[in-house]
Amino acid sequence: MKNEAICGLDIGTTKTCAVVAVEGPNGLEIIGFGEAPSLGMRKGVVIDLDETIKSIEAATEKAERMAGVHIADAYVAVTGEHIRSTNNRAVVAVVSDDREVGNADVDRVIEASKIINLPADRQIIHAIPRYFTVDGQEGIDDPVGMAGGRLEVDTHIVTGGTSFLTNVLKCVHRAGLEATGLIFGPLASAASTLLPEERQVGVVLLDIGGGTTDIAVYSGGSALYTATIPVGGNILTNDVSLGLKTTLAEAEEIKQRHGSAGGTESGAGYAVRTLDGRATREVAAEQLRAIVVPRVLETFRMARAKIVENVPRDLVLGEVVLTGGGALLPGIEPLAEEVFGLPVRVGLPNAVIGGLTDALRAPQYATAIGLVLFGPDGGERFPKSRAGVSWLGRLRRWLKDFWN
Ligand SMILES: Nc1ncnc2c1ncn2[C@@H]1O[C@H](COP(=O)(O)OP(=O)(O)OP(=O)(O)O)[C@@H](O)[C@H]1O
Ligand SMILES: [Mg+2]
Repeated sequence: MKNEAICGLDIGTTKTCAVVAVEGPNGLEIIGFGEAPSLGMRKGVVIDLDETIKSIEAATEKAERMAGVHIADAYVAVTGEHIRSTNNRAVVAVVSDDREVGNADVDRVIEASKIINLPADRQIIHAIPRYFTVDGQEGIDDPVGMAGGRLEVDTHIVTGGTSFLTNVLKCVHRAGLEATGLIFGPLASAASTLLPEERQVGVVLLDIGGGTTDIAVYSGGSALYTATIPVGGNILTNDVSLGLKTTLAEAEEIKQRHGSAGGTESGAGYAVRTLDGRATREVAAEQLRAIVVPRVLETFRMARAKIVENVPRDLVLGEVVLTGGGALLPGIEPLAEEVFGLPVRVGLPNAVIGGLTDALRAPQYATAIGLVLFGPDGGERFPKSRAGVSWLGRLRRWLKDFWN
């Protein structure tokens, strides 16, 4: 069992989560979960190595104890403003004598798609095939075995700043484990929250964390745009604290209890503790709403602007799915509807995976749970047995290069 354990590590801005899963008789099953506060992260990037190492150690230790296995390596989620995405296309000639597309051709064409103009301080994190084209026939999921002379691929490429990624790897390494691979957070969140039909029709996934809001847009079954904006739930807590002149802890509680729906409650107010904590002051519900609503709308508008700028104009999108802890804000759905003009739902990690307790079916765990689903495949478009391995091989090589 030990060797088969698949682990995920999500080092978020507010909390670090470790997940252990194993392939059981009924598919993947979660057997361990651990969570610890993150004190060394800001807006998705490491700002304090020691604190981050401590968080990783605490979370993995809990998960190990629950699972009864030792965690030696894990898929690690990354995010932050340094991450960029682009789409690329490459073409190769099919080399075999019988002109039949083989695994080697697929690997070669994906490799070729990774040849992009990349500054020296950036690394490719993902090159996810969106679809293949064989002799001009577009939209092929798995071209292996098909007859053809010319193989093309359209890939979604995600890159990150080398030093930001190295800092994450350093913390993981010093906490006593190795990264099996790095995964851009929203791709993992999407794996645990989105339905295949949603990805097919067209969907926007927003993972609203503490420090960042991560975006993934899917259409035709695969991701075509991913991004992150450096605004999350923490800034909202800050706004509430400043606006209501109270502590961050009190602001957090008020935000979680009343959220943006504040103004709709028959005018009742809240007792808010003053900064020194010695007295309480009555605050009108409308006052909270006036603080929360503009910030949430602004965050959604920023996300929408990025999407409008970067996805084709004629792309049809059917829905917005909100996840991450920020999606728990009471009354958030209508605000997203107002900005995107699309139906909105809150996405919980509900993917087909065993061992999902009710406590884990919460949006703040979407990334961590998605890691063990997305990690082994390296992308929903990779057929499991074959390309997954080569993807891993490439990543291992890439990670090794990091250390040399
Ligand atoms: N009930 C709630 N109402 C409103 N906001 C909430 C609620 N519960 C949690 N949050 C917010 O969710 C945020 C944390 O979300 P999450 O755990 O997904 O972040 P993270 O993964 O640690 O951070 P990031 O993804 O930005 O690195 C915090 O800002 C917190 O205030
Ligand atoms: Mg997160």
